Amino acid sequence: MMRIGTAALAMAAMVFVGATAHAGEGSDASATIAGREAGMRMSGAIMGNMKAVIDAGGDVKTQGFAARSLAGWAKAIPGMFPAGSEGGDALPTVWSDRAGFEARAAAYAAAAGRLADAAKAGDAAGFAAAWSEVRTACGACHDSYKKPDAH
Ligand code: HEC
Repeated sequence: MMRIGTAALAMAAMVFVGATAHAGEGSDASATIAGREAGMRMSGAIMGNMKAVIDAGGDVKTQGFAARSLAGWAKAIPGMFPAGSEGGDALPTVWSDRAGFEARAAAYAAAAGRLADAAKAGDAAGFAAAWSEVRTACGACHDSYKKPDAH
């Protein structure tokens, strides 16, 4: 009887933990928002470092890993905006015009892929051109899917 009682208590505890996790959906969304905002800022840092290499006439082959990282992040973007994660600086259009949002992410991924190819080839002119395409892709998405910067 003691054992059954203990098992029942354990079951009840598990149900309680499950209910708590369910009630915590809001905090799951804020973790998702924090994660995508951090990824966005890191992509901005990568872009800034690449621009410095371009302006200095540096070896673009050194940027291969960073460029592949950007391309991987670009592909991951739609998944960083799941249903239920509305908020942050994302506009409601991310969810209401999903096809358009995903097309912007795909355009970014394609440009970042060209950036990675140019880096691998050591093609400085191609790298600079692809970098501009990537930057255009950032802005094109932000124009329709991100709140304008408050500052
Ligand atoms: C497919 C759409 C899309 C693309 C492409 C995109 N972004 Fe974003 N970005 C967003 C959205 C939406 C937000 C707002 C997210 C939020 O606050 O939850 C955002 C937010 C940001 C932020 C602010 C993060 C913060 O601290 O709140 C920065 C910085 C940023 N993006 C940089 C970039 C850079 C740099 C690129 C290109 C290399 C890029 N983004 C490409 C959609 C995009």
